[in-house]
Amino acid sequence: MKFPDHFIWGTSTSSYQIEGAVNEDGRGSSVWDEACRYQSIVQDGRSGDPACDHYHRWAEDIGIMKEIGVQAYRMSISWPRILPDGTSKINQKGLDFYLRLVEELVKNGVTPYITLFHWDFPYALYRKGGMLNDESPDWFAEYAGIVTEKLSTLVSHWITLNEPQCYIDLGHRIGFHAPGLTLPMNEVLRAAHNMLLAHGKMVMAMRAAAKQPLKIGIAPACMVVCPENEKDTALARNETFRVKAGTTFNNTWWLDPVFLGSYPEDGLRAYEKDLPPIGADDMKIIHQPIDFLGQNIYHGTVVRKSADGRAEYVAPKAGGEMTDMGWNVVPQSLYWGPKFFYERYRKPIIISENGMANLDWVSADGKVHDPQRIEFMRRYIRENLRAIQDGVDVRGYFYWSLLDNFEWERGYTKRFGLVYVDYETQQRPIKDSGRWYHDLIVSNGEIL
Ligand code: FCB
Repeated sequence: MKFPDHFIWGTSTSSYQIEGAVNEDGRGSSVWDEACRYQSIVQDGRSGDPACDHYHRWAEDIGIMKEIGVQAYRMSISWPRILPDGTSKINQKGLDFYLRLVEELVKNGVTPYITLFHWDFPYALYRKGGMLNDESPDWFAEYAGIVTEKLSTLVSHWITLNEPQCYIDLGHRIGFHAPGLTLPMNEVLRAAHNMLLAHGKMVMAMRAAAKQPLKIGIAPACMVVCPENEKDTALARNETFRVKAGTTFNNTWWLDPVFLGSYPEDGLRAYEKDLPPIGADDMKIIHQPIDFLGQNIYHGTVVRKSADGRAEYVAPKAGGEMTDMGWNVVPQSLYWGPKFFYERYRKPIIISENGMANLDWVSADGKVHDPQRIEFMRRYIRENLRAIQDGVDVRGYFYWSLLDNFEWERGYTKRFGLVYVDYETQQRPIKDSGRWYHDLIVSNGEIL
């Protein structure tokens, strides 16, 4: 069992979840800083400060990456570190921090993949109406251009948005992520439309500012519906790509405009009453040529055909495998997800996030033994290989996450890392899974 020679093995993190130092070197505030301070949306009442204190420990963290042997590192930029007010006034110290970081990564042979927006939206822009302000796509474009100008000599792989469904739906409709809003559907869809325009305008600004040809992608949350048996495949594909009314948590409302240049018909019907104004050129702006699709996949559901031909969701077996997030372990989602999305959008795929939260402890021997995580990775990555063997163009796999970190509304209660973080001492022992990942990378998948 071997992966293609060019296959990239990496890990992912995001700025607010690891950096800390929220008041240092001129950083502005983000909606997550404010939500942690003023709303009780975080389970353990904590915030992304200090998280893993990565802002000060980044050199040590690169050392850990080297020890694990990762070839690529997907990180995100904190917008309010670059532009404390969201637009105009650049904070040079913020830009310099990221320049030093990517220089050191490159020097150590780790390829940086930069995500521009992983939810830490500038609070100053939220106060101007946030995503409901129709100027918001231009704010994103300005920010993207500035970062690209500074870093693109060294960085060729970029991701515009991480899981826009979470920022818009969890943040603006359900309210359990920052900015914590519970807007009516017409406003949610307006915010979503602006988010898509933001993606398109970012791509244009990035291409214009780039110092070398860039590989640009987007990394949505991918909801994967798997067939129980091969004969249920068409049904599972339909369910994967179906738009349901009342929520924007789906795949195609976000990705069809990006990759195909139009909203899906069933979505236009489902949202008919609540559609935002769609400008004549909007789809042209959103549908910029991009280079890859990043898939964040953690779990999935399973369907079969019922007696009368409808999709019947198969309940997970009683007491079946589950992670500490309460997410069912569905390894075949890493087969069907890449396969279905590749067939629909025909773009190279990277698995930009996959991983599990586990109840990790430091044992008496000073080590962290996490056999479940190793087994999780083994099962999922095997399925991913099966997709590649079936002709799906998967170029890389990024484990979420390098480090245990601030898991949004779950605070520090969930541990996803290959590396354990003791938040009081900031000690970082590599878990057994991190050692295993090392061997997997060295053998390019052969130890599977
Ligand atoms: C994804 C997020 C990431 C992390 C993982 C567990 O939805 O993109 O930041 O929280 O889930």
